[in-house]
Amino acid sequence: MPHGPSSVHNLYSLQSHILAEEALHPGASGDFSWIVSAISLAGKAIAHRVRRARLENALGDEGSTNVQGEAQQRMDVIANDILMRCLGSRASIAVLASEEDEEPTIMRRGKDGGKYCVLFDPLDGSSTLDSNGAVGTIFTILRNDPLIESAERTVCQQGSKQIASGYILYGPSTAFVITTGTGVALFELDPFIGSFILVKNNIRIPSSKRIYSVNEAYSESFPHGYQEYLRWAHANNYSSRYIGSLCADVHRILLNGGVFLYPPTISHPDGKLRLLYEANPMAMIMEQAGGLSYCGNTATLDVQPMKLHQRVPLVLGSRDEVRIVLGHAAGL
Ligand code: AHG
Ligand code: MN
Ligand code: MN
Repeated sequence: MPHGPSSVHNLYSLQSHILAEEALHPGASGDFSWIVSAISLAGKAIAHRVRRARLENALGDEGSTNVQGEAQQRMDVIANDILMRCLGSRASIAVLASEEDEEPTIMRRGKDGGKYCVLFDPLDGSSTLDSNGAVGTIFTILRNDPLIESAERTVCQQGSKQIASGYILYGPSTAFVITTGTGVALFELDPFIGSFILVKNNIRIPSSKRIYSVNEAYSESFPHGYQEYLRWAHANNYSSRYIGSLCADVHRILLNGGVFLYPPTISHPDGKLRLLYEANPMAMIMEQAGGLSYCGNTATLDVQPMKLHQRVPLVLGSRDEVRIVLGHAAGL
């Protein structure tokens, strides 16, 4: 089987991985692999633009704000456009929804072949781009319910219903992390051959690691239990790492262990991160790697989304570390 550890020494592409996974589902039409191939094409195109952003004078504000009232960076708009162009032509996509767009875009109805919805955060952590920070694209794939008329209601599905999710991290290398519900695989872009090559399969997150990742400058405005956690961590030889780009923080935690938290704050009483574009895809990755993800005391994947751009407080990472944070947050 191509999934064994020794196979990593062979050249094995993202495309072959998805085709092999599809072969496990007799009757699969191949539509799903077309969608992953569109996301991978978009990833390569965005990686190229990110690397040239300074040279092309594409950094800085676009001069507009998105639906969340946040300043859009020029690169947010470019990445969103690339994803829409790559995914727009795929015949099985019913709805596309982006963090940058107010409304989801209906591409085609169920009766016209629309089987899937794709939701994405085109450029996560984009405010770190000016200083050459690592940014990413986060995506999730949902099944389309042809009986639901409203596009917003169609995509407001619990995270447990995601068919696949992942992210592309534009760091020193371009990493593609994906789960289709059978473990987590990591691919890296070989720019010379233009393919994402498998470097790690069935990733398991360490169950503990004394590192927390939080914007500690806001700690005075965290609920009491989170402040208690930080005091406990300080007293217990924890270290801290925070990049301010969820993809980059999650990637480090996935590979090395630790815990990420973005609690409610006074300026973001419901938390800052978006349930559909950020929390759910990352929660599926974490759980598939043996970690945990919670919004308050509810598992992220069990939260019923009420609206498209809903925000949630988030704690995710190594199983034991997440439990310690939740224990303090609940005042235990
Ligand atoms: P985006 O760039 O897509 O708006 O997301 C930014 C997010 C996330 O990447 C990061 O974890 C978090 O915002 C950082 O927020 P603070 O700057 O408030 O710490
Ligand atoms: Mn983001
Ligand atoms: Mn973004």
